[in-house]
Amino acid sequence: MSASQTGMTAAKIILGDKTAELPVMKGELGPDVLDIRRITNDLGIFTFDPGYGETASCESKITFIDGDKGILLHRGYPIEQLAERATFEEVIYLLLNGELPNAAEYKSFTTTLSNHTLLHEQIRNFFNGFRRDAHPMAILCGTVGALSAFYPEANDISLPETRQLSAIRLIAKLPTIAAWAYKYTQGETFIYPRNELNYAENFLSMMFARPSEDYKINPVLARAMNRILILHADHEQNASTSTVRMAGSTGANPYACISAGIAALWGPAHGGANEAVLKMLASIGSKENIPGFIEKVKDKNSGVKLMGFGHRVYKNFDPRAKIMQKTCHEVLGELGIKDDPLLDLAVELENIALHDEYFVQRKLYPNVDFYSGIILKAMGIPTSMFTVLFALARTTGWISQWKEMIGEKGQRISRPRQLYTGSPQRDYVPASERG
Ligand code: ACO
Repeated sequence: MSASQTGMTAAKIILGDKTAELPVMKGELGPDVLDIRRITNDLGIFTFDPGYGETASCESKITFIDGDKGILLHRGYPIEQLAERATFEEVIYLLLNGELPNAAEYKSFTTTLSNHTLLHEQIRNFFNGFRRDAHPMAILCGTVGALSAFYPEANDISLPETRQLSAIRLIAKLPTIAAWAYKYTQGETFIYPRNELNYAENFLSMMFARPSEDYKINPVLARAMNRILILHADHEQNASTSTVRMAGSTGANPYACISAGIAALWGPAHGGANEAVLKMLASIGSKENIPGFIEKVKDKNSGVKLMGFGHRVYKNFDPRAKIMQKTCHEVLGELGIKDDPLLDLAVELENIALHDEYFVQRKLYPNVDFYSGIILKAMGIPTSMFTVLFALARTTGWISQWKEMIGEKGQRISRPRQLYTGSPQRDYVPASERG
């Protein structure tokens, strides 16, 4: 039964001489929501919710977050269990299909993924069109959108089999595009995917292998990469996912929609934060400068934010940040990095911020990006690739959410309304007569 059918009680709104009954919809978990779909019809008004902080824009069965308790579930499974025990490929299967695969399903699914990792050879030429110093997010955004030119059948989104194939293609090809974007900026040879490697290993191999020598995958780094991918796989209706749904609601093909999601992720308030955290730590420089930096963050006129802190939904802690912090210590330990100045700085900064009244009052805690940059840097991933990696992992969530939306009955184009505060109607005056 859909959530809308279970509404039992209703809230009543009286506006002048008009009354509207708003049904209360109950989900499986989380707060109830008021169904306002008839409010304009009944009361002649719209609702105002800039940033959509109080608005449920869709029904979804994929991911659940309880921001106060720090809970994150994918299809019901806690993120801690998935990050600790699952492979990224299992999580892809889970998000896309709703259940974890059995052994036979897993084998067949991973084989299918491996069979789609290659890019059309014509796509190689795209890279040469970019400047060598292009940001890899620019390359990713453009190249993923351009995939639609290679799979025109994806424009027909009415067939479930075509939608599934597009999902597989996108998830399988993203690591290849991402790694090649990096190789291009380095002037290095593109490394082709290898079917015997798993998703995380394959990405590391395409990033770091060179044709002139054997590349041995460090299992610690592969495990950390697997975990980082899982931690970024999906996160409910965040800005980039909502962008994918918004673009998808028009019937646009999935490659175009994912490209839109990549663009939305790029900003420093969202996926660009992990890159911004490292830049921030570098600019702080040393522990003595932390108090001065914190004062700047608290000064509203400075425009400075503590990057990697705060979240629209998590107001207690971000469960992903906890796992990331633990992974960070593990990776640095395994790599023999005893005293990492950036990690020391991050730990000190976190400690000070967590006890500072400004952050406590506003419920600002480290988010997933606070520690991910330090791990990625230790793994040899350059800063400009951090957000690319996030996009690579989040493609699974985006395309699962897109598939869910397109598969719904009665799916409509997304079209919010506005509160207009501009000029009232006025008449055009020729330039010569304007004062
Ligand atoms: N540093 C300093 N102050 C902050 C921060 C921060 N990182 N985040 C929020 N605040 C302050 C706001 O200025 C505001 O203060 P006020 O009440 O005195 O005006 C208050 O805390 C509430 O913040 P909002 O802006 O209302 O929070 P919102 O939900 O709109 O923003 C966001 C969430 C964008 C994540 C914000 O916390 C932020 O910019 N953080 C830094 C960037 C970052 O780390 N982004 C990654 C998010 S997680 C992800 O995408 C994977």
